[in-house]
Amino acid sequence: MTTQNDLKRLVAQAALRFVQPGRVLGVGTGSTVDLFIDALAAARLDVKRAVSSSERSTAKLRAIGIEVLDLNEVEDLPVYIDGADEIDAGFHMIKGGGAALTREKIIAAVAQRFVCIADASKRVDVLGRFPLPVEVIPMARAHVARKLAKLGGEPRWREGLVTDNGNVILDVRGLAIADPVATEARINEIVGVVTNGLFATRGADVLLLGEASGVRELRP
Ligand code: 5RP
Repeated sequence: MTTQNDLKRLVAQAALRFVQPGRVLGVGTGSTVDLFIDALAAARLDVKRAVSSSERSTAKLRAIGIEVLDLNEVEDLPVYIDGADEIDAGFHMIKGGGAALTREKIIAAVAQRFVCIADASKRVDVLGRFPLPVEVIPMARAHVARKLAKLGGEPRWREGLVTDNGNVILDVRGLAIADPVATEARINEIVGVVTNGLFATRGADVLLLGEASGVRELRP
């Protein structure tokens, strides 16, 4: 039987063909990306420099001999490879299950091409069954939670977690995300929100979807 992990490994391997030798590579965060970094190490491609969306991925990249640059030093980033918690037909995503959403969103904004690597369970018709992560400045946690409840969500503090940026995460259940672009903007307007895990204004450009029958390469 093909497991979810098998599918993650398949898409991680398939993503290697999007890597541009000799160029800086954008690398996201999560278990699928961990498998991608393993595949990168095994493939011995000419990748010497990367930017990374988390301390976790940075440590893994450095362990295989890849220099991790400050994004401020990088003007040209052809490809960013990252996973998702949910992705719809328009390639809008929910991300941030691994709490790296803010750095992920910044790198995605800089990259020319966002390649999403996901197993088939992540493909949904409507976003929102996965609780939407919202990164919040710690002193604004209760205020932001009250505002999110007014929008119809049920925010839950991911207690004990501190993001790489020193902030906290509220996971919001029960939001009806009929319009991902509008919801992304509406939540980001709340004072104290750093950003939310809706990647709608800047979604993915390519989806590598791992299914039992193999990897499908899809465009929005
Ligand atoms: C981390 C993310 C990940 O891309 C997302 O959570 C998917 O993770 P995984 O590959 O472990 O299923 O957004 O912040």
